[in-house]
Amino acid sequence: MTTDNRSTLFSPLTVPTPDGTGLTLRNRTILSPMCQYAVDRQDGVATDWHLQHYGAIAAGGFGMLTVESTGVSPVGRISPRDLGMYRDEQEAAHRHLVSFIHSQGAAAAVQLNHAGGRASGKPWLPGYHGGSAPLEDGGWQTVGMTDQSIAKGYRPTTKLDKAGIEQIVSNFAAAARRADAAGYDAIQLHGAHGYLLHQSLSPLTNTRTDEYGGSEENRFRLTREVVDAVRAVWPDSKPLGIRISATDWVKGGLDIDITSRLMHDLVVNHGVNWVDVSSGGLVNTPLQPSGPGFHAILGAQMKEALADTDAIVSVVGGISSPEQAETMLRTHQVDAVSIGRAAMRNPHWPAMAAARLGVPREDIPCAPQYWRAEW
Ligand SMILES: Cc1cc2nc3c(=O)[nH]c(=O)nc-3n(C[C@H](O)[C@H](O)[C@H](O)COP(=O)(O)O)c2cc1C
Repeated sequence: MTTDNRSTLFSPLTVPTPDGTGLTLRNRTILSPMCQYAVDRQDGVATDWHLQHYGAIAAGGFGMLTVESTGVSPVGRISPRDLGMYRDEQEAAHRHLVSFIHSQGAAAAVQLNHAGGRASGKPWLPGYHGGSAPLEDGGWQTVGMTDQSIAKGYRPTTKLDKAGIEQIVSNFAAAARRADAAGYDAIQLHGAHGYLLHQSLSPLTNTRTDEYGGSEENRFRLTREVVDAVRAVWPDSKPLGIRISATDWVKGGLDIDITSRLMHDLVVNHGVNWVDVSSGGLVNTPLQPSGPGFHAILGAQMKEALADTDAIVSVVGGISSPEQAETMLRTHQVDAVSIGRAAMRNPHWPAMAAARLGVPREDIPCAPQYWRAEW
């Protein structure tokens, strides 16, 4: 516990990198990735909506923004209106976004994802009832670890063979190269919320009998291969992160012991530098919690499990009170907080929080144009 009253939330944080240079964030607030379903032509290209959305949030003082789930291939997108990172036009639009985010003093990460059996979903916009988007609305046949439907309302997947899995691993690497070219400072691999990597990690959904299923070693294989392929092309001067569902909240599924083991291995042996802790999303369960800071305990457990490494741990979930975020950091539960819905309600959440925590006016992270806002 620090003895002075300077805010820990608004102190800089250096995310380690393999080459030792590190990426220093101006503070410990990270925008959680949130799909905007705002692509106009189902082409994976960012639009004016993305620029104003991420632009306002960067101007609002976040240390780093994690741009929403971005498909590494057309069939890997969560919905027809998701961003992609597999075509030149997409890369160019990302570069424009990143450039504006940087101009506001924030770092930029992108969440790379293959949604597996949860790809081709309906955009989660008003009127949403879940499930697969019909083919006539831009949906497509999905691929997954098995030939089963991943959840009610989702079409059965085409089971990936070895060549299909290798293709996906190389899609991740190609997307990472493009993310570097677009200027991103960090990558967050999506290993959570029931998408392909999570589907492969959990015994609840991975019933394969080949080298990608069965034992823990086999179920971890795809994620390790993706991490290795991405690390091989992603510069050593840039952090590599992963979001993990630390538990499935179901007996027999992933739990914090299993996911801590995996994360420890990925950090120590495979070049991961940042672990973002979430949970669930694979199967429906009444145990899935909510409320203020609902993952804090999982974040603290993950940090404890990684205490002998230099990786940073962030946690997401119901964080909206500046005082609560400050306490989580001061008590060393985590190194940074990921903030989702609170940032949609108020893109200037960090500037507001800094003022509430007594950060001197000249140090409040806001755009100079907004300095006179009397935070
Ligand atoms: C509109 C919306 C879109 C989301 N899209 C993503 C996503 O692209 N990737 C992801 O990992 N989580 C996604 N999430 C989950 C959030 O990142 C976050 O984990 C969740 O909302 C809990 O954090 P919060 O209480 O701060 O909002 C999304 C959530 C919302 C509300």
